[in-house]
Amino acid sequence: MSEFAELSFGGKTYQIPVVTGTENEKALDISKLRAQSGLITLDYGFKNTGSTSSAITFLDGEKGILRYRGYSIEELAENSNFLEVAYLIIYGELPTKQEFDQFVKDITMHTMVHEEVKSILDGFPSKAHPMGVLSSLIGALTAFYPEALDPSRSADEVNMSIIRILAKMPTIAAWTYKNEIGHPVNYPDNSLDYCSNFLKMMFAVPSDKYETDPVVSDALNKLLILHADHEQNCSTSTVRVVGSSHSSLYSSVSAGISALWGPLHGGANQAVIEMLEGIKADGGDTQKWMDKAKDKNDPFRLMGFGHRVYKNFDPRAKIIKKAADNVLNKLGVHDPVLEIAKGLEEVALKDDYFVERKLYPNVDFYSGIIYRALGIPTQMFTVMFAMGRLPGWIAQWKEMRENNEPIGRPRQVYVGKNHRPYVNIENR
Ligand code: CMC
Repeated sequence: MSEFAELSFGGKTYQIPVVTGTENEKALDISKLRAQSGLITLDYGFKNTGSTSSAITFLDGEKGILRYRGYSIEELAENSNFLEVAYLIIYGELPTKQEFDQFVKDITMHTMVHEEVKSILDGFPSKAHPMGVLSSLIGALTAFYPEALDPSRSADEVNMSIIRILAKMPTIAAWTYKNEIGHPVNYPDNSLDYCSNFLKMMFAVPSDKYETDPVVSDALNKLLILHADHEQNCSTSTVRVVGSSHSSLYSSVSAGISALWGPLHGGANQAVIEMLEGIKADGGDTQKWMDKAKDKNDPFRLMGFGHRVYKNFDPRAKIIKKAADNVLNKLGVHDPVLEIAKGLEEVALKDDYFVERKLYPNVDFYSGIIYRALGIPTQMFTVMFAMGRLPGWIAQWKEMRENNEPIGRPRQVYVGKNHRPYVNIENR
């Protein structure tokens, strides 16, 4: 039985179909509203607008639920590894042993990046932010694989772009760091797993025999899993909208990286550590900073707090907070900003301003503390997020293409000048 909502306007009543998702989420399908009534909807920041129907990630912000393809984030973070989760997100099912081995083999075979990408890297100033370099180099892959420019080619060719981008991401990500510190790049070591290989490319120096610490690569695996997809967030929506013009996977992901960079989105992890260090340098008075965050005349926000969809708790933050304690203990690291973070959380959770607005620590509040303990420099935090989010961007781009979704093109309500005659420059 189809459900409808009714809208009355201008003396007429319109029936608006209600769409129901598999978790009983309801939406009004307004796709014919303008044709029928002349009306459009207006929703700044898409706070209340579904842009698509998707089978990838389920999120219930009130209950703090996050599932990839039906599997809970808690179970995946505990039992799986990043490449298995990437396979699940991209292809829809957990791989069999044989499928997984083939997937890992394919990715391992494509970790090398064309040598000329290095010439482009050399052209960046060494102080360039790694996110800007990453976005440029991922976009530049279209120049090396022009066949990717036509994403309507065969499924095998599209899959090759998927394998290539997954394989080359850690190499390019590590190179953005080497560029920043002015060191020669390391090439991939295909005897290592995905995370260990990345860590080696980040940290090995030519004269040293670099050994990855399993505590470090396990923690990295977990962090990447927690970031792997998050349905229609700012960067993912960007990837889908860019891809909807039939732009290549590389250019769509490059746009997603740029969207992720901002401090209200993925860039928050860098901003959190900078904020915590600022508080520490200022004497550690958390109340003073809480008051600043609440003062509407002060642009300061408590970074790592609040979320567009989580209004109870962010399940990723819960896992990360526990992992932060664990990793720091195992590595024997004492980081005073962890204490400041915990103190800030405690004060905020009792504060009326934060309680009323349902502002809780998000995924970025504690992730930076773990990254720091793993030796990842602050400027690289958002690059780590991008590495984690890559399977999600790929899966969302693929789903959008397979569903043959129309080009993303919102409407607007025009509030500018009405028609007026042109005035010659001498008469103005
Ligand atoms: N500190 C102080 N006040 C805040 C904060 C904060 N971190 N976040 C929201 N508010 C207030 C905001 O001022 C507003 O108050 P009022 O109703 O009095 O005007 C109210 O809470 C609602 O905020 P909003 O900006 O309308 O909410 P939003 O859904 O548009 O924004 C957000 C969500 C994540 C951009 C925002 O909470 C924020 O800026 N947080 C800090 C940045 C951050 O940590 N971002 C990472 C998000 S998680 C990683 C990811 O997936 O991107």
